[in-house]
Amino acid sequence: MRHLLTLTDLSAVELRTVLDLALRMKRAYRGGARPPLLARRTLALLFEKQSLRTRVSFESGMTHLGGATLYLGEDVGWGKREAPQDFSRVLSRYVDAVVIRSKKHETVVEFAKYSDCPVINGLTDWSHPCQAVADVLTMMERRGSLDGAKLAYIGDSNNVCRSLAFACGMLGVELAVGSPEGYRYDDEARKHFAAKCPQGKFVFDATAEEAAKNADFVYTDVWASMGQEKEREVRQKAFAAYQVDGKLMKLAKPNAGFLHCLPARRGEEVTDEVMDSPNSLIVDQAENRMHAQKAILIWLLGQKDPGILQSAEKELPKTGK
Ligand code: CP
Ligand code: NVA
Repeated sequence: MRHLLTLTDLSAVELRTVLDLALRMKRAYRGGARPPLLARRTLALLFEKQSLRTRVSFESGMTHLGGATLYLGEDVGWGKREAPQDFSRVLSRYVDAVVIRSKKHETVVEFAKYSDCPVINGLTDWSHPCQAVADVLTMMERRGSLDGAKLAYIGDSNNVCRSLAFACGMLGVELAVGSPEGYRYDDEARKHFAAKCPQGKFVFDATAEEAAKNADFVYTDVWASMGQEKEREVRQKAFAAYQVDGKLMKLAKPNAGFLHCLPARRGEEVTDEVMDSPNSLIVDQAENRMHAQKAILIWLLGQKDPGILQSAEKELPKTGK
């Protein structure tokens, strides 16, 4: 059974296949076509944290594909009414795939261990793989090709940055991370990146300025993620020199694209000027969550039922490569 719990559950070749599918999915959608490639399939969304983009893009995407979604909140008693293995075994008999947004990464890993259907990580404290697929899709669209590209990530070395690092490592994009001391990846994390992406071109100890220099894209995320709200004031002080503003963007390449997974705290990690600039890609990036996730669903369900991939091959426009 294939799952997407971390981006490295895909090989680099599989990631490229998913990206190609996403581009084709977007082209079909923009052309007015919504081929029902997942007709009569159901997707459960099991969320322990708030969400706009992940929830709505999966729900709309599944509707475009002819399937249905079930948003499961507190009322199903996940983690409270019964043992996790019973919950997972039962839910996964009812539906064709499950998206999980959990506080702890171990929760999604445990669910997948007992699941009869594919499980997709919709964000945990450790990673956010669906976001990273949409991010590299956005970069590919903007730049044409990712060959020789440099991405600067400024801010907290967090879940979003971890998945981005895997994506960059798998696709040959240079990644420079600028995080304040105390908010950088530890040795264990760095060894993990090196083991999973031996060809990765990573710098994890840059200043904001060093990271931004000559970058094709500059990315940031909130300084305090969901679950870290109590640390907000301490983090505001620690990250003060890591705000993405117009001055920092000038160190990057001319017309470098700005990325943010959203939601953003305008005036903290990024200024309004950057968020609203013509080089801000944030809305396209958010839209691309939907196309990327439709591709992920097709690819994952297609591993169990190759007929889905064959129909996608027939019904989606080619990327023209
Ligand atoms: N970027 C992202 O995952 O947004 P949501 O938290 O709104 O889903
Ligand atoms: N790092 C953020 C990302 C939100 C999409 C968080 O985990 O809250």
